[in-house]
Amino acid sequence: MENIKIINTHSHVNMLKETDIEKAIENAQNEGIVTIVPSSSTKDIFDVDKFIRKYNRVYGYVGVFPEDAPAFTDKTLTDMEEIIKHNKKIVGIGEVGLDYYWDKSFKELQKEVFIKQIEFANDMNLPINIHSREAHQDTLEILKKYNKNSTAILHCFSGSLEFAKECIKEGIYISLGGVVTFKNAIKAKETAANIPLEYLLLETDDPYLAPVPFRGKENQPLYVKYVAQEIAKLRNTDYENIISATSDNAIKIFNLT
Ligand code: NI
Repeated sequence: MENIKIINTHSHVNMLKETDIEKAIENAQNEGIVTIVPSSSTKDIFDVDKFIRKYNRVYGYVGVFPEDAPAFTDKTLTDMEEIIKHNKKIVGIGEVGLDYYWDKSFKELQKEVFIKQIEFANDMNLPINIHSREAHQDTLEILKKYNKNSTAILHCFSGSLEFAKECIKEGIYISLGGVVTFKNAIKAKETAANIPLEYLLLETDDPYLAPVPFRGKENQPLYVKYVAQEIAKLRNTDYENIISATSDNAIKIFNLT
C-alpha cells in the first residue's frame, strides 16, 4: 500500500457520535493513516463487515467482546468464518478478552468464550486483538496455554512495564493509545518509554480516551498522531522513527500490502 504513515490498530470510528464519521475517516486518510475497526458483539461483526467495505484504508476485526460473552454461540463462529471468507479487509480477530472491571460474575464464561476465539484465530491463521481489564494474569496464562500460532496484541495496554516485558517474552505485542499522554499515567509512560520498538503498536480506541490536548472530548482516528508524538518525546527520539517502526510492525502482523 502506498503512503502508509501510521497504522491505527484499534479505532471504533463507526461509533463516533459528536464527530461526523465520514469527516473523521477523511481526516485520517488525508494524513496517510490506516484505521482498523474492531467488532464488539455478535451483531456488530455484521456491521463492521459492511462498514469497512465503504472506505479506503479502513480494515476490521471480527470478534466478541467479553461483555457480550453470554450471546456467543457456535453460530457466531460460523458467522465470523463466513465474513472472513468474503471480506479480505478483515485482518484479525477482536476485540476479545477478559474484563473483570465491569462484571466479575461471569468470569468463567468470559474465559470460555475468549479461549474459543483464540482457537478460532489459530484456525483462521489471523492475529488477535485483545481487551484485558483487571485480568492481566488470567489473560497471559490463557494465551500461553491456548494460543498456538496467532500474533497476540494487548490493546490499550494498562499493565506495568514489568508485565509488558513478561508479555513480550511470549511474543505478545503492546498497543498504546491516548492514555500515554495523560499527565498522571505513570505506568503507561514508563511502558511507552522502555519496551522494544519491535513490539509496539499505536491506536486510539476512539471514541474513548482522547489524547491530550483533546482529553475529555470525543476521540477520532486522526488523534493517533498525538499518541505517536508523546511516545517519541518519552523515548527521546523522532516522531518519524516511532511511526515508521510501528507501521512496519503492523504491516507485518496484518499482512497489509
Ligand atoms: Ni475498543
